[in-house]
Amino acid sequence: MRLRLDPGGALAADADVSIVGIPEAPGKDPSFPSSLAAANAAVAGAIQRGWDSGEVRGRFQELSVFHRIERAGRVVILGLGPRDRLDAERIRRAAASAVKGVRGKGTRRVAFHLASFTGRSVSPEVAVRALTDGIGLGSYEFTRYKAPKEPPLEEGTICLGTEHRAQARTLGRAFAQEQSLIETVRWTREIANLPANEAHPSRLASEAEELARAEHLKVTVYDEKELARLGCGGHLAVGGGSAHPPRMIVLEYPGVGAKVPTIAVVGKGITFDSGGISIKPSLKMGDMKFDKSGAVAVLGILRAAARLRVRPRVIGVMACAENVPSGTSYRPGDVVKAYGGSTIEIANTDAEGRVVLADALAFVVGQFHPDAVVDLATLTGAQVVALGDDMAGLLSNNDRLATRILAASKATGEPVWRMPITDYHRELVKSEVADVRNSIEIPLAGMLTAGAFLEHFAGSGPWAHLDIAGAAYTTITTRRLQPAYQGIGATAFGVRLITRFLLDYAR
Ligand code: BES
Ligand code: MN
Ligand code: ZN
Repeated sequence: MRLRLDPGGALAADADVSIVGIPEAPGKDPSFPSSLAAANAAVAGAIQRGWDSGEVRGRFQELSVFHRIERAGRVVILGLGPRDRLDAERIRRAAASAVKGVRGKGTRRVAFHLASFTGRSVSPEVAVRALTDGIGLGSYEFTRYKAPKEPPLEEGTICLGTEHRAQARTLGRAFAQEQSLIETVRWTREIANLPANEAHPSRLASEAEELARAEHLKVTVYDEKELARLGCGGHLAVGGGSAHPPRMIVLEYPGVGAKVPTIAVVGKGITFDSGGISIKPSLKMGDMKFDKSGAVAVLGILRAAARLRVRPRVIGVMACAENVPSGTSYRPGDVVKAYGGSTIEIANTDAEGRVVLADALAFVVGQFHPDAVVDLATLTGAQVVALGDDMAGLLSNNDRLATRILAASKATGEPVWRMPITDYHRELVKSEVADVRNSIEIPLAGMLTAGAFLEHFAGSGPWAHLDIAGAAYTTITTRRLQPAYQGIGATAFGVRLITRFLLDYAR
């Protein structure tokens, strides 16, 4: 799908559907909004008749379709809800729901009237970015294995019109940046949605190599032999049961200018998590193809960093392995040695994410001495129980770093909630036979003990962990409650969040 910013007006645009936003009518008998005059004229007064009858009220995400009289095409009135609640996230959601609502029926091109989405607390720039997100992500569909039911949208246009034409230059810059980012989020979803029979660790390595070629990044792929040479005994143990051997993939983006900070971004890349010998129940096990989402987000973050030329140097580490049972699998009771020499008691082979991340975190800290480390991982079911499936858990040893991530969360609408790590959790992950254990017998603060385990390997510098178990993909149970821009399957959660964090880091 093509996204465009156009100086013209939405009603004059060469589109099948022109979309105009309206805030919710205040009170019982509100007067017809003057902002709809032009749209109303284009449909011979039908919008006003709909308004008078109570059909059109501007309730959040309400769509009202009117056919044009003087030419082909439709005018769609999109409800934005109460004016004082309008913000970037509501625009993202409304735009995505509108794009989904007008799908099919011959709709190939849609035009949005920018001025109808701005307001007291929403600048034209914020509205342009939010519309870009909503249109670009709301129209995403994973069609690799199945033809779409309806032909996809060809073009989404944001129309400046007379109201905003004068700001075409600054709005154009904001649009270009957001459009590039959204294109990368779609690209990331395409990889995160690959099933485990295609997305082996080696496939993720070749995706990284191709990205590195295209964006002039440095890439290093560590195979089993090199992982052994480095001393990554945790990563090797987790991947040991699979016919598709593990890979640690390191991408380097140099940053812009001299003396820039180095940020490491580390992702859990379990291409399939069956649980291993501590095997999972079969119900919903298929969702564990999304257990690579952290690593795939890292791939997307490096692509966005390169394309948007963020200031900091960025080191991306993707810890990729398949966790399956076989005669060569690691077992409960095993003791393995991670990069740097710490020993891990394997109490449960299903707590594998933290074991590959132990090596990846210790490696990136030991090799690159980053100014900050952020990891993304579909790490615990406990995260989903505690915070739900729309939000990520944030654990950090550094308030300044956590604050930056929370600010990026607010700006992007990717929800994050900070949770604690205390000495109690650190005690809980100590082992009687090794330095740490990867699981405790009872389900107790599962997200936090996982964090305490990771902290052991993350060094003494600023580190933040995002548990994205819930937010990485949508499920049939809650999809209708999720923002329409999330769609079916992988969300690529974290790409917008961490790219915003990087854009704002060295300013
Ligand atoms: N990949 C899972 C976590 C997960 C669960 C992600 C549900 C998305 C949805 C992880 O490897 C896992 O199995 N964690 C265990 C840890 C336990 C054995 C300590 C869990 O959360 O049950
Ligand atoms: Mn697991
Ligand atoms: Zn897992």
